[in-house]
Amino acid sequence: MSKPRVLVTWPYTFPEADELLKRETEVIYHKEERPMSRQELMEAMADKEGLLCMLFDRIDGEVLDAAPQLKVVSNLGVGLDNIDMEAATKRGVVVTHTPGTLTEATADLGWALLMATARLIPQAHEFTRSGKFIGLRYHLFLGKDLVGKTLGIYGMGRIGTAVARRARGFNMKIIYHNRRPNPEGERETGARYVSFQELLKESDFLVIVAPLTPETRGRFGMEEFRQMKREAILINIGRGPIVKEKELAQALKEGIIWGAGLDVYEREPQVEEDLLVLDRVVLTPHIGSAAVETRSAMALVAAENLVRVLKGEKPLHSPNWKNLRK
Ligand code: GLV
Repeated sequence: MSKPRVLVTWPYTFPEADELLKRETEVIYHKEERPMSRQELMEAMADKEGLLCMLFDRIDGEVLDAAPQLKVVSNLGVGLDNIDMEAATKRGVVVTHTPGTLTEATADLGWALLMATARLIPQAHEFTRSGKFIGLRYHLFLGKDLVGKTLGIYGMGRIGTAVARRARGFNMKIIYHNRRPNPEGERETGARYVSFQELLKESDFLVIVAPLTPETRGRFGMEEFRQMKREAILINIGRGPIVKEKELAQALKEGIIWGAGLDVYEREPQVEEDLLVLDRVVLTPHIGSAAVETRSAMALVAAENLVRVLKGEKPLHSPNWKNLRK
């Protein structure tokens, strides 16, 4: 029996995932290290039953219509805002993703950004590397203490809870805001549920971990920054469009908040120009889950999800598999 044809939109995955794909499918990898154009994607999908895609591939109704044999879209990542779920479900296409695999790595990156921003690490590193260190100076790179401060989390899901768990080691007060309270997260971390306004007012460090939804899009703008402490630091490891980037740059410039650390951007891969030149900003290029072990595990789960659906089995993680079985 011939194997199902599958497209992977990047030139490689990781060895275990690659092995599984090659064993169970007839896999074609996109050949270049750049996202496929929409046209390329649609052409390549014409005869495929499975698609293993990345967060930068936008999968909507038009793209799905170009793939009449498609059974499964397996997203390499947890966020699903790049996929039109309704369009996929309407066409009977199962969508899968990789929650759980990247929780700890993403929480680590959130903390790395938080500490780097609070203590101006990249700026100090650059200073030292460029030969400017001529001796200890008591006013050089004055940052912010962490211990005993209030950590606010916007989006207390798996990753938010993992971020909160780490704060206990810093003896921080932990507060959070979600659509709904998360009693399990509270039990595990001692975090307290607060209103959105309280989160803004009380947080010394406010970490955004929420997914992008119609409710979270543009949730943080000048009006919100004005309600925050002047000494506050904002970290975004959720999705870029949750923060109005131009307004953030303005708030930082005017000293409305103290600093910001971002891993995700409103118009990725573009970064708001004003942010590039500000002093108290630390920027990373969407590397939340970029640790070898984590990315390897994500790739394997994505491959496993894909292969399972093609075999008619239940995938490990899918928001619409159950609906399509009805
Ligand atoms: C990363 O941003 C993910 O959603 O996996």
